[in-house]
Amino acid sequence: MISLMSDLSVTIAGVELGSPLVAAAGAAGCGPELLDVVPSGTFGAITTKSITPECRDGHPPWRLIELPTGMLNAVGLANPGLDSFMTDVVPHLHSNGPVFIGSMAGHSIDDYVAVARAFDSVPGLPLVEANMSCPNTGTGRQFTDDPIAMREAVAAIKSELKQTPLLVKLPLEMAPGYPIAMAAVEGGADALTFINTVPAMSIDVDTRRPRLSNTAGGLSGPAVHQLAVRMVAGVHACFDGGSCPPIIGLGGVTRWSDAAELILAGASAVGLGTALFADPRLSVRIVRGLERWVRKQGVAGLSELTGAVQSEPVIPG
Ligand SMILES: Cc1cc2nc3c(=O)[nH]c(=O)nc-3n(C[C@H](O)[C@H](O)[C@H](O)COP(=O)(O)O)c2cc1C
Repeated sequence: MISLMSDLSVTIAGVELGSPLVAAAGAAGCGPELLDVVPSGTFGAITTKSITPECRDGHPPWRLIELPTGMLNAVGLANPGLDSFMTDVVPHLHSNGPVFIGSMAGHSIDDYVAVARAFDSVPGLPLVEANMSCPNTGTGRQFTDDPIAMREAVAAIKSELKQTPLLVKLPLEMAPGYPIAMAAVEGGADALTFINTVPAMSIDVDTRRPRLSNTAGGLSGPAVHQLAVRMVAGVHACFDGGSCPPIIGLGGVTRWSDAAELILAGASAVGLGTALFADPRLSVRIVRGLERWVRKQGVAGLSELTGAVQSEPVIPG
């Protein structure tokens, strides 16, 4: 257990996290495994792998490629399925540090609703996250081109949740006014998580074939960091007077200063994904860096720095 010198606690949709660091979905196995390798207190939350009603094997190899600037993956939402998750993983969803966020995915609204109904009854999942932005399955982004479809899907999932706040995981959006993010909020999202991986491709020039079995995949890591900062600042700027729902900002965080950038842009908490594959204990260094930064900024706690970038207003779009 590490003890923190500055107040790094944050609140996401009424749930207090002792640290602003969130292990991103897909980067921590099913979730509880991460507790074996990081000191308690570094992560405020751990997101489970996205769970679908049925067990999925995902795409065949190759499905992960290391790049100079990050990672390209087309895992394809491989996961044990809802029944197995409830039997084998749910009993391990307790810790004296991080809370768990249950990530949900599906082919249809009915799929999301079925997982949401099950997760809502699990005391070890005080927050749930609807992954509506996976670029690696045929239906992973079915709601992200149409604000009406997004709003209706979020509203349907929300209506199943009697006690658990809903986070919606969004893709990189560049359209002026962020209509998809706004639709998620209108549908009832209590908080937003973004960005997911960005559609991308790599080609082996000798064989002249795509390097991923799925042809294309999702880019993550440092290559996408500044895109995430821009979107967090833009979405935050869409809301006046502090009415922005909490944002878990992520994309390419490898240093404490990357996390601090996302906080200043408007994030309440910061996700760590790709960097965890290389070094799960990186979280210790990031938390220590954030502690020093909060002290140097002369504020009582990290949450005072959310959206505190000093600039001309960011144009939302
Ligand atoms: C191998 C891999 C698997 C992922 N699986 C999921 C997933 O199951 N659900 C989800 O919402 N996001 C998933 N993501 C996306 C991450 O949670 C995160 O949004 C993205 O990688 C950007 O953050 P990063 O640059 O810190 O990795 C995955 C990413 C990677 C690299």
